[in-house]
Amino acid sequence: MQDKSTMRTEVLMAENRVLNPSEQIVSQANLSPENYERAIKQAQNDPDAYWADAANELEWFQKWNKVLDDSDKPFFKWFVDAKCNIVHNALDRHIKTANKNKVAIIFEGERGDSQKLTYYDLYRQVNKFANVLRSLGVKKGDRVAIYLPNIPEIAIAMLACAKVGAAHNVVYAGFSAAALKERIQSSAAKLVISADGFFRRGKVVHLKHVVDEAIIGVDTIEKVILVKRAGEDIKLSDKRYSWYHELMDSASPYAETEVMDSEDMLFMLYTSGTTAKPKGIVHVHGGYMVGINRTLNWVFDIKPTDIYWCAADPGWITGHSYIIYGPLIAGTTTVMYEGHPAYPGPDRMWQIIEKYGINILYTSPTTIRMLMGFGDELPKKHDLTTLRLLGSVGEPINPEAWMWYYENIGRSQCPVMDTWWQTETGMFMVTPVPVAPLKPGSANKPFPGIEAEVVDKKGHPVPIGEGGFLAVKKPWPAMLRTLYNDKEKYKDVYWSIIPGYYTAGDVVRKDEDGYFWFQGRADDVLNIAGHRIATAEIESALVAHSAVAEAAAIGVPDKIRGELAKAFVILKQGVEGSDELAKELKKHIRSELGPIVVMQGIDFVDSLPKTRSGKIMRRVLKSRETGKDVGDLTTLSD
Ligand code: WTA
Repeated sequence: MQDKSTMRTEVLMAENRVLNPSEQIVSQANLSPENYERAIKQAQNDPDAYWADAANELEWFQKWNKVLDDSDKPFFKWFVDAKCNIVHNALDRHIKTANKNKVAIIFEGERGDSQKLTYYDLYRQVNKFANVLRSLGVKKGDRVAIYLPNIPEIAIAMLACAKVGAAHNVVYAGFSAAALKERIQSSAAKLVISADGFFRRGKVVHLKHVVDEAIIGVDTIEKVILVKRAGEDIKLSDKRYSWYHELMDSASPYAETEVMDSEDMLFMLYTSGTTAKPKGIVHVHGGYMVGINRTLNWVFDIKPTDIYWCAADPGWITGHSYIIYGPLIAGTTTVMYEGHPAYPGPDRMWQIIEKYGINILYTSPTTIRMLMGFGDELPKKHDLTTLRLLGSVGEPINPEAWMWYYENIGRSQCPVMDTWWQTETGMFMVTPVPVAPLKPGSANKPFPGIEAEVVDKKGHPVPIGEGGFLAVKKPWPAMLRTLYNDKEKYKDVYWSIIPGYYTAGDVVRKDEDGYFWFQGRADDVLNIAGHRIATAEIESALVAHSAVAEAAAIGVPDKIRGELAKAFVILKQGVEGSDELAKELKKHIRSELGPIVVMQGIDFVDSLPKTRSGKIMRRVLKSRETGKDVGDLTTLSD
């Protein structure tokens, strides 16, 4: 008899497993199946009208003269000549409605402390901090570096920057002094906003001394503002440093919102750097707010009563778009959790869901696989019945993890939205909507208004079932506008590989129903004796085995076949690695993927090199294996 997991994987791998949305979901969703189909067609026939519709759901100080200006490709402009400010939509307008006293942010500290801020509370805090920024000379067009953990002050800082028209450059609070310095310097930031420290895995992560080191010799920095979070006994001797709470004490809670052009910069954010040196992505006020609002509402189906938890960090684009700006524009309640997902125990996330009655959970495959490794019993110990929708982002989610998430966390009742997008795209690009049939492991189809294709190097569509590059044929409102101070590189990296198309660097294939199956970054595709195989496929097959918790695959050079596959495997709790098991896993890969996948070896390891946002850095494994230079390591987690 086959074990349950192998059987299930076979069914899923056949790509014919389709889960249809329940009648209950369809009848309640913001979008009906008919409206979804209609939106796809409308957006194809008249994209300007479709995006103008989406823009009209928001408030503008002055409307646009033109939806899209494509006269200077690839420097597209959206909502030309319109005036707006994203903060007006995320905060100011809610103060005039019943949302005023609704909870905007629920904060959960790692030690179990919690805090709730209503829209009115948040509005007043942001106004105060905007006044602090103005009093320090921060004005429209300036850049401000933010190096804060996942606490409400990061939202306040970002919103206050946007309110006064300064661009924020958030640097994930796990980055080193060198990485922070580089990001401060390249944006010529005037100010750094940070904290004394924060709590992670039961310890204090100290931030101040990282900032101290990062700003040595950086003369653009005029001021450092520190939030007191960890309660460290710190004396501020350097005149440039001030405490956040002291500045806030005397600030007024009234502040004007700067009138911005829709194309004015809202923020810059460095990419996570799985494959190369991080790039400074630029986003703007107008199109960005339109894109994230439309996608969040349709894909996550936000309801007025929802409590929504995106368990990412505000230091990533996922946090910018879907912890802070998107949910606040939608007027929902967004949850921020400071700590580690498995601290103090591996059921922490399930405990948080129970504590607040969370309705929507958005997390990453890497987190799901890690928690899956602790077994099916832990989620059963908590009341997860409030959940009605799940989301995944960051990497391809293997069908096995998808099904585990669906069955064990979503009680087989919550649709799983596997959203494909990037720092560059700003918003979901290829994604299901809750009213469409789902295929476990597939990110479904391009969102209405997104014209994406699977093409070869020349830009020709590849046959159904074959891997190719993801290319986007038409611009979209939340797209990056450029790379900070590097227009040429922006053109080269994104618009020159396949002329006229935006290329994302991802490899994907489309099935006969038009569903997209992402396979990973183009750099992560192996060529074994002429057969192209994605590392994600090998990893997915491995994780489907009952002994495996996580896996990473790379290619190693081989004289005869060009390349062979090598895998690094973290076993589930309680399973011991052995030669027999390695043999069995090789056999398992052969039976799942066919004899073309020739394995050079399987190593059992305790951890895998990941970026700080949880993506496996295969190039680190590869350089270690092949003795080649590993390149930029600033985004590596450990
Ligand atoms: C990968 C994160 C498969 C992809 C929002 C992309 C995914 C890169 C998915 C961007 C998904 C993200 N399925 N792959 N659902 N979501 N990716 O900039 O390789 O941190 O190019 O943005 O993550 O990562 P970034």
